[in-house]
Amino acid sequence: MAILVTGGAGYIGSHTVVELLNTGYDVIVLDNFVNSNPEALNRIQQITGKEITFYKVNLLDKKSLTEIFAENQIEAVIHFAGLKAVGESVEKPLYYYQNNISGTLVLSKVMKEFGVKKMVFSSSATVYGTADSVPLNEDTPLGATNPYGWSKLMLEQIFKDLYVSDNEWSIALLRYFNPVGAHESGLIGENPNGIPNNLTPYITQVAVGKLDKLRVFGNDYDTKDGTGVRDYIHVVDLAKGHLKALDKVLTNNLVDAYNLGTGEGYSVLDIIKTFEKVTELNIPYEITERRAGDIAVSYADPTKAKQELEWKAERSLEDMLRDSWNWQQKNKNGYEN
Ligand code: NAD
Ligand code: UD1
Repeated sequence: MAILVTGGAGYIGSHTVVELLNTGYDVIVLDNFVNSNPEALNRIQQITGKEITFYKVNLLDKKSLTEIFAENQIEAVIHFAGLKAVGESVEKPLYYYQNNISGTLVLSKVMKEFGVKKMVFSSSATVYGTADSVPLNEDTPLGATNPYGWSKLMLEQIFKDLYVSDNEWSIALLRYFNPVGAHESGLIGENPNGIPNNLTPYITQVAVGKLDKLRVFGNDYDTKDGTGVRDYIHVVDLAKGHLKALDKVLTNNLVDAYNLGTGEGYSVLDIIKTFEKVTELNIPYEITERRAGDIAVSYADPTKAKQELEWKAERSLEDMLRDSWNWQQKNKNGYEN
């Protein structure tokens, strides 16, 4: 029996595939490389010494998806495949809804046809919308402020409805906080297209000389130093959380949401200072206007994942930033070299 990983060539997917292979699972990866590079799969094989069965397929292609399920004994699906750029989702809502929602509906229909009803789904802390009372727990009211966020919120609802219709389904909705870092080998990591939107890849690209300085989006938030506070989580801890969630769905029937975060909030200035400390580099930055759509503070209450999945993040902020830098230094242009 195998685990199908959609989006397995992407940032979080590739790290999760490594953990699955190292734990002894048979893994099948499906990806269309819309936001990733086939080289990630070579690197996974280099790290683990194991072969991956791979299909270059778009989730929307029901015929090919059906063939994958017919050719393999699939036990469960870890579903990462989706588009994730907030700004782009505002410009191209139909593209985002089609890819993320229709793609997931096609996948779920094929799973149902083959009687595969176990899934771990990549949701996001973005489903807490503009809630500003922290820490955020799974009962915090939900909301969304852009098509990307709505796609996650709608998919969570679709999965809840699916479970009500047939409680043989078992689906873990994993609400990730801010994934950063990379595998300690420096062979796989985050590979953003063009100029990064997210803080850590932006900083590592300044450090490696690809960008000249960081812009800090606002220092007038109601936080300890005025800059935005987030819950950064090491991508390897996050990947390990997927294995715990997989155990849960394989042995129970449920639909349930779990926060995957550390429970600690760090400001933008904390990140700059810690990065400078672990790398002994200087990061030039300027304070600019707030970025539209940003909230002041977001961090998790991770108690539920600890109690019900027996999972807890273990890596420190220093580990995250050291590993991000190791990956960036070894791969100045990501997988393009
Ligand atoms: P990523 O872009 O690196 O990985 C997503 C993968 O899915 C890519 O390899 C892409 O090529 C593939 N994909 C997209 N649409 C596809 C389709 N129609 N058919 C086949 N493959 C397709 O992103 P990531 O950071 O690894 O995120 C994985 C998941 O986690 C996404 O669903 C994302 O929304 C969610 N998430 C990410 C973050 C984050 O900060 N990285 C935070 C919260 C949630
Ligand atoms: C962003 C997305 C969110 C997504 C998350 C993880 C937006 C509005 N939100 O969250 O939906 O789930 O990424 O992919 O895009 N910052 C700077 N300068 C920069 C970049 C960021 O100061 O160049 C600040 C931001 O204002 C924020 C913090 O750094 O306070 C983290 O930003 P980022 O990494 O983009 O993550 P989020 O905004 O939390």
